Amino acid sequence: MTAPELNHPRVAILTVSDRSASAEREDLSGPVMAAALTEMLGWACAATATVPDNHDQISAQLCHWVDHDGMQLILTTGGTGFAPRDVTPEATLSAIERGAPGLVEAIRAASLDITPYAMLSRAVAGIRAKCLIINLPGNPKAVREALAVLAPVLQHALDVLSGGPTTELHARRPSPA
Ligand code: MTE
Repeated sequence: MTAPELNHPRVAILTVSDRSASAEREDLSGPVMAAALTEMLGWACAATATVPDNHDQISAQLCHWVDHDGMQLILTTGGTGFAPRDVTPEATLSAIERGAPGLVEAIRAASLDITPYAMLSRAVAGIRAKCLIINLPGNPKAVREALAVLAPVLQHALDVLSGGPTTELHARRPSPA
């Protein structure tokens, strides 16, 4: 793990998967997410964890990272679909205090150009204290696709959330008609 650089947020990545948590399957999505964060934003990941598809374990990890470790951004991967054990959105809803639906709406909208299955993700996003928590799908390819949507606005979102000075939007603006 690299040393945090000035102005870089404290980021944690939570992999939600029964099979990865039991070491039955290697976690690919978490490392892909960490690499993509560095590649797209230059950010290092301060903490990672893997938990099974269990509501209480997911929400406890999210709350711990915010309340005890001062994380400013938590990205989850997995458990957002329709399978009976997919409970990441519900666990996230129990951890957040304010919703941030625009982020996951944007991911779903952009992802529909790639696959119609994008509408099967029930991902949510929201804020606990000064931390932004966002659900991403579990597939490593989907992780990169979703992060590419978020990357242009994340620094600005975290600046506003922290109450500090804001950084220029990295987003590309549509050119005037
Ligand atoms: N979003 C993007 N960008 N790319 C994808 O390949 N896969 C979808 C969807 N979102 C996908 C995507 C599929 S197949 C499912 S089932 C849902 O995310 C939920 O995935 P999860 O249960 O692993 O979270």
